[in-house]
Amino acid sequence: MASDSNATNMLQAIRYNRGSLQLLDQTKLPLESVYLEIRDSNDGWNAIRDMVVRGAPAIAIAAALALAVEVSNLDDFSGSTDDAAYFLHKKLEYLVTSRPTAVNLSDAATKLKEIISMAAATTSEARGVFQAYVEAAEIMLEDDVASNKAIGIYGASFIQNHTEKHKLSVLTHCNTGSLATAGYGTALGVIRALHSGGVLERAYCTETRPFNQGSRLTAYELVHDKIPATLIADSAAAALMQAGRVDAVVVGADRVASNGDTANKIGTYSVALCAKFHNVPFYVAAPLTSIDLSLSSGKQIVIEERSPKELLNTRGGLGEQVAASGISVWNPAFDVTPANLISGIITEKGVITKTSAGDASFDIKTFVQKTS
Ligand code: MRU
Repeated sequence: MASDSNATNMLQAIRYNRGSLQLLDQTKLPLESVYLEIRDSNDGWNAIRDMVVRGAPAIAIAAALALAVEVSNLDDFSGSTDDAAYFLHKKLEYLVTSRPTAVNLSDAATKLKEIISMAAATTSEARGVFQAYVEAAEIMLEDDVASNKAIGIYGASFIQNHTEKHKLSVLTHCNTGSLATAGYGTALGVIRALHSGGVLERAYCTETRPFNQGSRLTAYELVHDKIPATLIADSAAAALMQAGRVDAVVVGADRVASNGDTANKIGTYSVALCAKFHNVPFYVAAPLTSIDLSLSSGKQIVIEERSPKELLNTRGGLGEQVAASGISVWNPAFDVTPANLISGIITEKGVITKTSAGDASFDIKTFVQKTS
């Protein structure tokens, strides 16, 4: 199976054909488009940890496919079906350790492990277990684009139905587009859908310091797709809202707790606070795979801390030093936006809203039960 993003001229973070995986090296964008060959789970782990591939859904799919490539090219596995299942389980557990905050990766690993165990119990050869694994990983790649398109449709129509305006300006933070997913994107998918529906006045994207996913990646996607867009410094978001230039904010998610508290790229919380103050609706757009029903609130979400170099040097740590040597650094990669600042959570099954206007949190469990 090959990924089909080329057909629609979408940027492709993940290029896959059975037995071969290439990842667009996002640390080099927007200046260079270089694809790295991923041969096994080790290459996959490194690519995720080093931010070659990033964004919650893309991380999960890249990890699953890295292992799919490894087993597609294994030609001398002599073990039993149980050995094959054990091999795959261990590799998935290793891949999950690459980055902790996005739930999509551990969710994918859990689902894949179930498929592996079932195949081991019903197949007579190790090859059959590997085959079942590869097919399941490939389905994840296909499903992600479909669910992003559904998020786009639901989100665009919900936002339109909640405004009197005919043309809307939308602010987003970080990168949630084709580069963060298998294609189309979540929050950026909603912006794409508003644009193709003729109702987008302008998209605003933040730089998203310190790794600059906004200026390097989202700006690149918006220019690529010829969507009217303006880049702002993270610190300009409040002033932009104060000037009345933002009609809605849409961001992605790395992990949504069952009350709706949402972990997303560092800086999301400050954008949400500004939106609340200026009465601008603030939406989270995420597939159901970003929801972690095992957590009652965002306080339980593990927040990844990344290298001080991302702040000390330019280009998210890859360029020259700009900060004083010897300064101590706190560099959380994500923050948690409390549910009371969120107006709605846009998923591929519809928009999760609060039951009554005064509610501080969402009843996500009931929504998931009703829609699955
Ligand atoms: O550190 P990153 O670049 O992986 O962080 C990405 C984000 O925070 C995105 O907003 C989130 O993963 C959603 S991507 C559809």
